[in-house]
Amino acid sequence: MRLLRVKDQKEGGRLAFALLKEKIDSGIQTIGLATGSSPLSFYQELVDSSIDFSKLTSINLDEYVGLSPDNPQSYSYFMKEHLLESKPFKESFLPNGLAKDLLAEASNYDRVLDEHPIDFQILGIGRNGHIGFNEPGTSFEMTTHLVDLTEDTIQANSRFFDKSDDVPRQAISMGIASIMTAKTIVLMAYGIEKAVAIKGMIYGPVTEDLPASILQKHPDVIVILDEAAASQL
Ligand code: GLP
Repeated sequence: MRLLRVKDQKEGGRLAFALLKEKIDSGIQTIGLATGSSPLSFYQELVDSSIDFSKLTSINLDEYVGLSPDNPQSYSYFMKEHLLESKPFKESFLPNGLAKDLLAEASNYDRVLDEHPIDFQILGIGRNGHIGFNEPGTSFEMTTHLVDLTEDTIQANSRFFDKSDDVPRQAISMGIASIMTAKTIVLMAYGIEKAVAIKGMIYGPVTEDLPASILQKHPDVIVILDEAAASQL
């Protein structure tokens, strides 16, 4: 794991963008995208750039169950708003949280991933160490699956909703095994509430209790942190 410390989220976004640009110049095809507030400055850099993404594919980590793409809280809407409307890709995939058969949708998504191996994966991290929506206790062997969100994640994500009762209780998420197939992974974390998870991810045992700790076993991970997120290191 390579650690890069930055002054703030803006500098982190610039740095992540520079890493991506290098890979695009070397011919990568598929970018794995994440939602949440951490990648926002990175997406702003992409929007402000002159790069044409129309020959690239994007694949998102996860989507809430039960929210349609025109619901402003859905991850589909988030991606359109912050990136895809301004910078269309050749194809952009997100799990369909409205699918009648959610397990079949998860299998479909695994097929999408098989057909489009991820070259460059963006990640945030939950304060309980989750990546994507892989909550503590999720098997490292999982590919795309249906997730029951933990109370901690529901509370953390309730800031995007009117009230915590509105936060969906389930999501479809790429699994840890899927994430680990990405050739390069860039994880961004900002703020004191991430500090404990970051410490565990970097120095702790590799354990399903802290899903992000598996990244210790990945050959090409870059972690971008502000001072607060790095404060327990
Ligand atoms: C959600 C997303 C994750 C994201 C996490 C942290 O749970 N599924 O992909 O990393 O939130 O979000 P934030 O960056 O807003 O702290």
